[in-house]
Amino acid sequence: TESDCLKGKKVLVTAGGTQEPLDPVRYLGNRSSGRMGYAVAQALQEAGAETILVSAPTDLPAPQGVRRVSVQTALEMHDAVLENFANLDVVVKAAAVADYRPATQAEQKIKKDGTNRTIELVPNPDILAELGRRKTSQVLIGFAAETENLLANAQEKMHRKNVDLLVANDVTKPGAGFGSLTNIVSFLFPDGRRIDFPQMSKLEVAQNLVGEIANLLGRNKGV
Ligand code: PMT
Repeated sequence: TESDCLKGKKVLVTAGGTQEPLDPVRYLGNRSSGRMGYAVAQALQEAGAETILVSAPTDLPAPQGVRRVSVQTALEMHDAVLENFANLDVVVKAAAVADYRPATQAEQKIKKDGTNRTIELVPNPDILAELGRRKTSQVLIGFAAETENLLANAQEKMHRKNVDLLVANDVTKPGAGFGSLTNIVSFLFPDGRRIDFPQMSKLEVAQNLVGEIANLLGRNKGV
């Protein structure tokens, strides 16, 4: 990709796994390290974009020059993304967002009493689907983390969430998905086009993604 192909573009990336509190010391979480989303933010920044990184808790340092907004829960991530959406050219949703949160959050640490417990869960908003309904000229990129029927499930998500490009990863493969330094992905497009990539570093996946984003932005402008 050209070094400044996204110059002047405003982009937002989400990364990491949301944490949904049960009480002051416990939460429901997932295995996302944030690496994939952070790599995307770095690659976009290096391509000249003005980059906001809405990050769930991770151990990673913010990439140079990126504005990081830290959130914990899916609801906080929802608000941080929606607040910025109208002014953005591109959104990349690499975060692993909790589909459910505990119905209540105990004010004090929950005590054990030897009995069985049930946690009631209520659905979180689907941030990407909401962006898909609201989008005007924004380029919208989704991810799909699948453990079975990768392409069929990813294609269904692409259409249901109205994204312009969906990055599908089979998170059961060694060297792909949660936590690893590398990923194995396919890019799916609404016109049926598909690009399958071999295993590569998450930064290389991100750089390939930046190239496609530049193409999609060009197409929107009619270039
Ligand atoms: O962070 P790493 O350790 O590097 O791992 C990378 C990754 C596996 C987390 C990443 O590559 C990835 O696949 N991210 C998406 C994970 C996910 O939640 O996938 P999903 O298939 O459940 O969701 C589909 C899409 O909808 C995603 O873009 C997700 O951000 C979005 N979503 C999901 C639920 C929800 N309530 N709101 C959303 O916006």
